[in-house]
Amino acid sequence: MSGSKFSQLTVPLIQGGMGVGISLGGLAGAVAREGAMGVISTASIGFTEKDFYENPAEASERALRREIRKAREISEGKGMVAVNAMSVTTDYARLVKAAADEGIDAVISGAGLPTELPELLTGSGALAIPIVSSAKAAKVITGLWKRHHGYTPDAIVVEGPKAGGHLGFDREDLVGGTCPPLTETVAEVSRLFPEIPVFGAGGVRSPEDVKAVMDAGACGVQVATPFILTEECDASEGFKRAIAEAGEDDIFILKSPVGMPGRGLKTPLTEAVAAGRRFPPSKCVRCIRTCNPAETPYCITEALKNAYLGNRETGLFFSGESGAYINEIKTVKQVVKSLFGKDGI
Ligand SMILES: Cc1cc2nc3c(=O)[nH]c(=O)nc-3n(C[C@H](O)[C@H](O)[C@H](O)COP(=O)(O)O)c2cc1C
Repeated sequence: MSGSKFSQLTVPLIQGGMGVGISLGGLAGAVAREGAMGVISTASIGFTEKDFYENPAEASERALRREIRKAREISEGKGMVAVNAMSVTTDYARLVKAAADEGIDAVISGAGLPTELPELLTGSGALAIPIVSSAKAAKVITGLWKRHHGYTPDAIVVEGPKAGGHLGFDREDLVGGTCPPLTETVAEVSRLFPEIPVFGAGGVRSPEDVKAVMDAGACGVQVATPFILTEECDASEGFKRAIAEAGEDDIFILKSPVGMPGRGLKTPLTEAVAAGRRFPPSKCVRCIRTCNPAETPYCITEALKNAYLGNRETGLFFSGESGAYINEIKTVKQVVKSLFGKDGI
């Protein structure tokens, strides 16, 4: 990707941010070392700090700064190191500013419209990259950034319906299979904004998938789920095993307290919630702005933390559709090669 803002990338690949604790400095650094963009998820990143429940914002900022430094060290100065911060999180501004202060290369933001991102990054040189699921959302965010900040997104990640984690589509369309395919939205966004590099995400796991997304007009891809099954991934062995053992019937569209549908594994927790049961939070750090602890079906931080630890009873294991087709642990280098062939694109 020579001559662009992404000239440090030798492969046109962003590793999708994965919270809670799945993509930290270990995975992000290893991906950057391969010449791609490694991404640390800021979602409840302070959860392993002793004082997380007393001082969640401070604990998360401390953990984020540590993980960014760790990723940089592992990267050996190659590729790019970025963070993924969800705009619905309460500590969003604080963590984006901390990442900018650490000299982060880019901030990628979805799960809501990241309206204030350019302002939070002013003067830092970090690239500002929104995630959208439709051409309409791409128009809204580019229009808002232009009007309020005089800023054009440095790239746009277009996420299609096969992705893992929270999804920007209606539940009915996801379940009914009526969402437009990723390639269609990539083509539409690339046509609308020919000057903005587009990265396509969701279900990309082979060189054929990469080619289809790039033929549609993208300059690269964002890939998350295949990186879970790597030695370098920061998740526990238990989390990796759950994804490795999952087949098509084990992955479904679930209800998230964030208020958006999500894709993940069927577990006793997610099935009980689907059947209408509620698990009131025992403690709350107000991690999500849109979550009301008095009404939420369950605590997302607690459920993601339990998944990180490999607890299949109480965990929320996010996975893209790709989770059904991957079953062995590889190295990050092998996953990158499996997407781009040995010489990259
Ligand atoms: C375990 C897991 C956690 C995720 N966490 C986040 C997150 O914290 N923020 C976010 O914007 N996207 C998150 N995602 C979405 C990914 O970053 C990515 O865009 C998407 O999964 C791409 O599809 P793929 O998994 O099929 O490659 C997550 C996905 C997974 C599988």
